[in-house]
Amino acid sequence: MAKAQLSYNCRDCGAVYRRWQGKCDECGEWNSIEESKGGTTSGAPKGLSGKKGRRVDLVSLDTPLKEQPRLMSGIAELDRALGGGMVAGSAVLIGGDPGIGKSTLLLQAMGQLALKGHDCVYISGEEATAQVQMRANRLGLSGAPLKLGCETSLRDILTTLDEGTPPKVVVIDSIQTLFADNVESAPGTVSQVRVCAHELISFAKRKGTVVLLVGHVTKDGQIAGPRVLEHMVDTVLYFEGDRGHQFRILRAVKNRFGGTDEIGVFEMTGMGLNEVTNPSALFLADHNSRELGNCVFAGIEGSRPVLVEIQALVARSSAANPRRAVVGWDSGRLAMVLAVLDARAGLGLAGCDVYLNVAGGLKISEPAADLAVAAALISSLSQVPLPDETVVFGEISLSGDIRPVSQSEGRLKESAKLGFANAMMPKAKKAGPKAIRQQNITHVNELVTHFY
Ligand code: TYD
Ligand code: MG
Repeated sequence: MAKAQLSYNCRDCGAVYRRWQGKCDECGEWNSIEESKGGTTSGAPKGLSGKKGRRVDLVSLDTPLKEQPRLMSGIAELDRALGGGMVAGSAVLIGGDPGIGKSTLLLQAMGQLALKGHDCVYISGEEATAQVQMRANRLGLSGAPLKLGCETSLRDILTTLDEGTPPKVVVIDSIQTLFADNVESAPGTVSQVRVCAHELISFAKRKGTVVLLVGHVTKDGQIAGPRVLEHMVDTVLYFEGDRGHQFRILRAVKNRFGGTDEIGVFEMTGMGLNEVTNPSALFLADHNSRELGNCVFAGIEGSRPVLVEIQALVARSSAANPRRAVVGWDSGRLAMVLAVLDARAGLGLAGCDVYLNVAGGLKISEPAADLAVAAALISSLSQVPLPDETVVFGEISLSGDIRPVSQSEGRLKESAKLGFANAMMPKAKKAGPKAIRQQNITHVNELVTHFY
């Protein structure tokens, strides 16, 4: 018999090595490489013949499969992030910082589903049944016919789930606590996480159960365990938010059954998570348009327009390397906007400390925020506030030109709905709502003339 070959895995990113080494070349982490006794799986086994499969011509399917109705959790913001409810037989991974509210959200969703008569199982490897019960009481779900389990052995979990009619939804909180006894390494290691996830996903596909897996994140914000975990599941949701804020954002980063970048917004209260159906109104609750360096950006998150306040502070610096600090936006993008404002509009920002903050704990990744960031920076530098009731959006190119962005109409409609009367924006193809006056900006120089 061939000798099982030893291999070494990185605990964080799953990279495979032949020899042990102190630092992982893939993710740069130190001391994260550990022995994996499972042997490598490279190469197909020789001399074995498998079972014959069946091929089906796609065009020969005379009765096209009807899209199955999705299972709605009753929490509209969660259903929205999932692309319109849960799909039977799918596996969903939910990642997020500790204490952000993953367990709370899933317990609330399971409670709602159970109250509607669906068979749901919540398996916690982190908390005892009494603790989960206490939390359920606090969330007002004491009467929900939900089944709880506190178990970490994968074998026991699968045996129990395989008995009788399979449940509609199973929550595993968390995948890192599970333990498969046929794998030698400790719970939470790459091999364990991979095997446990694989078994649970095949269970989901086999029985048509929705499996929701909670995944921990590492200190740099990735879901811990192998990156392959994200490839294995159908949907990956990240629960983000600043713990200093009560807002929580559930963002779809991968979805085989819906759009990505769709978000659900929640507010953490003493009674659990509340849905926020109009996030713009909440993000702008404390907005003061006379404040220097404040600018309202009309953004799009997934399919929904969201208005947020961008705050900038620009101050002359005596340091050789002025400070640049960004919260909620990309620092590389900020460097680009600063360079364009310097080179094309001659603003002299190179010698200034720059601080940028997206209010409410939202993280923006759209390039459409460029113009709003530029407006906030110029307002702080020139000590002139933006005109009243104004929203800003547009992408800045390296030449300083303002490029059109997608979904201008949706942005304008949402702004008009919230009482904004002006929009500084690139020229749009379609005319927007009449209630809002469009000031078309074609170059950063034009933006500067509004302040000086
Ligand atoms: P939790 O769901 O346990 O987080 P995770 O599973 O992501 O680690 O969230 C716990 C936090 O939420 C904790 O700091 C307390 C707070 N919380 C509330 O503010 N209100 C509540 O009703 C509940 C249940 C938790
Ligand atoms: Mg938890």
